[in-house]
Amino acid sequence: MSNLVRLRALMEKENVSALLVTDLLNIRWVSGFTGSSGVVVVTPSDAIFITDSRYTLQAAQQVTEMPQRVFSTPDNLDGVLGQELTRMGVKELGFETSQSYSEWQRRSKLYDGVTWTATDGLIENLRRIKTPAEIAKIREACKLADACMEHVSRMLQPGISEYDLGLDVEFFYRRHGALLAFEPIVVSGPNSAKPHGKPGERLLEVGDFVTIDCGGKLDGYCSDITRTFLVGKASDRHREIYDQVLKSQIAACAALKPGVDGKAVDQMTRDILNEKDLAQYFGHGLGHGLGLNVHDPGRLTMTVSEILEPGMVLTVEPGVYIEGFGGVRIEDDVLVTEGEPDILTSFPKELIEA
Ligand code: GLY
Ligand code: MN
Ligand code: MN
Repeated sequence: MSNLVRLRALMEKENVSALLVTDLLNIRWVSGFTGSSGVVVVTPSDAIFITDSRYTLQAAQQVTEMPQRVFSTPDNLDGVLGQELTRMGVKELGFETSQSYSEWQRRSKLYDGVTWTATDGLIENLRRIKTPAEIAKIREACKLADACMEHVSRMLQPGISEYDLGLDVEFFYRRHGALLAFEPIVVSGPNSAKPHGKPGERLLEVGDFVTIDCGGKLDGYCSDITRTFLVGKASDRHREIYDQVLKSQIAACAALKPGVDGKAVDQMTRDILNEKDLAQYFGHGLGHGLGLNVHDPGRLTMTVSEILEPGMVLTVEPGVYIEGFGGVRIEDDVLVTEGEPDILTSFPKELIEA
């Protein structure tokens, strides 16, 4: 079933008779268009993709399941959208709340006889479950993330800077045809206690934990992997913390099965960390959906229930961050299947002493 057909089924269920899609990732999801400007309108029996003439050829190649309307200056998007809404007989228009407030203010006054109604994450809800084609792309992105981790792990030694490691991560992805899914995190020694620290000028020292969190966006789909390494020989404290994070991470990955509540998996992870009194140092959620966005719809967190279904891809990334000492995070990307969870990232997780 195509994404357009899936969307129409959900619109019918939610009584949305017409939807204006403005979020670029949602536009890509429903139409295939990867450019940076356009909108889609979907009704039960019709759909239109609208963009401008910068994208004439690209839209013709990418948008195959709905007609296109491509305009040139002096026409503009608001005007063409109005014409299309009239042609399609749209009286009630659902809109995505990701549309900016100023766009909504402007457009909602423009079209006589059209009532605007906010919708709540319609496409985002569908994006939680990936299609086989999407899974294949995420799998490729994850393979590249493994290769990047392998590459950068060989560079770890005392004296190299976080900044240089971060640069090499960036080059690696770009050199292999990917964009960055997000700015790489490379944090060492006491900096590794910053879960989302940026690589700085600090030089690696013997005795440092070094956490590298990175991902590439390949053909539009993201990967997201984290490993923590040790420069030199691990102390008993290093090993106790690392092994407990690893134990919790392995258990959480194994628990991602259909019907399970992500909230319970988050709690289980904390219970395992607490065998060594470490959950107090784990301040963020266990994981998030992964797909067109690095933080895609779907979450593993103590605050929201998320009943797992086959086709969901989620990160599993427990961490322990101790101010003044350092931190450990281990992150994999996991596909929920009818059977055992499919762990898409496979770089080794045992502590590597570099
Ligand atoms: N790299 C961001 C995250 O792991 O969520
Ligand atoms: Mn990450
Ligand atoms: Mn993540």
